[in-house]
Amino acid sequence: MKNIVLIGYMGSGKSSVGRELQKKTNFKLLDSDQEIEKEQGRIISDIFKEDGEAAFRKMEAEYLERLSKNSEKIILSTGGGMPIAEGNAERMKAVGNVIYLKAKAETIYDRLKNDTVRPLLQNGDKMAIITEMLNKRSPFYENAASIVVETDGKNLEQVVEEILSKCQ
Ligand code: S3P
Repeated sequence: MKNIVLIGYMGSGKSSVGRELQKKTNFKLLDSDQEIEKEQGRIISDIFKEDGEAAFRKMEAEYLERLSKNSEKIILSTGGGMPIAEGNAERMKAVGNVIYLKAKAETIYDRLKNDTVRPLLQNGDKMAIITEMLNKRSPFYENAASIVVETDGKNLEQVVEEILSKCQ
């Protein structure tokens, strides 16, 4: 089976699905946010605060570029904004099967209503931010994806089984 890249909005389940897929495949699980935090020696919210979002997007693209050249038997859980930056959709496809975990704004809001760590969700009405960003980003997610999995109303096991049955 090819590598798996999980994309989708914040709170779409990339990390939990990644952990479950890891158990089933024994592939190595990588989380782009965590890898960048390790490289930088600071957390995402500090990177946003100190260097700004554009600098973080550059770090994401560089990390992905490296993976696209050399990676085997991995599951990559990505940050929700990764598919938006130019060139990243192609880089992701070079890594492996790109799975879009699609979720409705209401589902995402439910999962993230108490979130305090994601910098893009802290200033304003969370439901409004999520709805607007999701509308803007959806075409990018759809374009980057090789497989789309609808997650609303499904449990983790169902989502993981669907991914495994669709991946070669
Ligand atoms: C972001 C999503 C976050 C993280 C950063 C920006 C985004 O990752 O990369 O806060 O722009 O959607 P998760 O999708 O894992 O929450």
